[in-house]
Amino acid sequence: MRQILVIGIGTGNPEHVTIQAIRALNTVDVVFVLDKGKEKADLVALRREICERYIEERPYRIVEAQDPERDRNPTDYGVAVEDWHGARAALYEAMIERELGEDGCGAFLVWGDPSLYDSTLRIIDRIVARGRLSFDHRVIPGITSVQALAASHRIALNRIGAPVQITTGRQIAGGLSADADTTVVMLDGDPTFAHLDPDLTIYWGAYLGSDDEMILSGRLGDVAAEIRRIRAEARARHGWIMDTYLLRRPIQ
Ligand SMILES: C[S@@+](CC[C@H](N)C(=O)[O-])C[C@H]1O[C@@H](n2cnc3c(N)ncnc32)[C@H](O)[C@@H]1O
Repeated sequence: MRQILVIGIGTGNPEHVTIQAIRALNTVDVVFVLDKGKEKADLVALRREICERYIEERPYRIVEAQDPERDRNPTDYGVAVEDWHGARAALYEAMIERELGEDGCGAFLVWGDPSLYDSTLRIIDRIVARGRLSFDHRVIPGITSVQALAASHRIALNRIGAPVQITTGRQIAGGLSADADTTVVMLDGDPTFAHLDPDLTIYWGAYLGSDDEMILSGRLGDVAAEIRRIRAEARARHGWIMDTYLLRRPIQ
């Protein structure tokens, strides 16, 4: 039976890779690398570095593929994501069939952890549901950008007994939800902050875990402009940026 491992690799520091992940990597015949966008080259390089550094026990191959393009301005967001996932499922299925022998083991190295804003597991479920290809699959957890953000700022995510909401820039375009004490925002391509309460405390971080990590925190009204300035500069310098921020309401 073919084996597929979905391995969380952390967010940019090779030392985020867990011992469980290293053991799993050392059972792999093929590492599948799929990336997209401007950050592609840097993220692929990190995956290669992880393989070179940690796989010592057997020969392996890296198979790279171009992720299908996604419609970034769809009229119907749900339909566009559905189509994109369909195209990715077909691609992954073809790669597994072509590159792995009947008893082969393949791995998808997922940025951060596969449980958080990543579609790899949904795509694998789709392939399983299609029923054309049989394989076992297993998930190895990794450090998320949310954990990396909290660690770099030396903060706990939640206030005592209080909830945390994890969401996207798109979802907070109309403001934070009324009951959110702490909100972590990911996937925000252009944080404006202008529509948010200036008395919120923000903990912001970019390229977390990597040598290029940047963090900044403070009262939102005091630091928003500075975050936007250094974010734009860093984005221009690297050609891409990945950043995450946590917003906390003032104590009432
Ligand atoms: C598609 S999601 C993937 C999240 C990933 N699975 C995780 O566990 O963190 C990409 C978003 O994660 C956040 N992110 C990922 N890596 C990051 C990093 N090194 N520094 C800051 N934010 C990061 C950003 O908000 C980015 O837009």
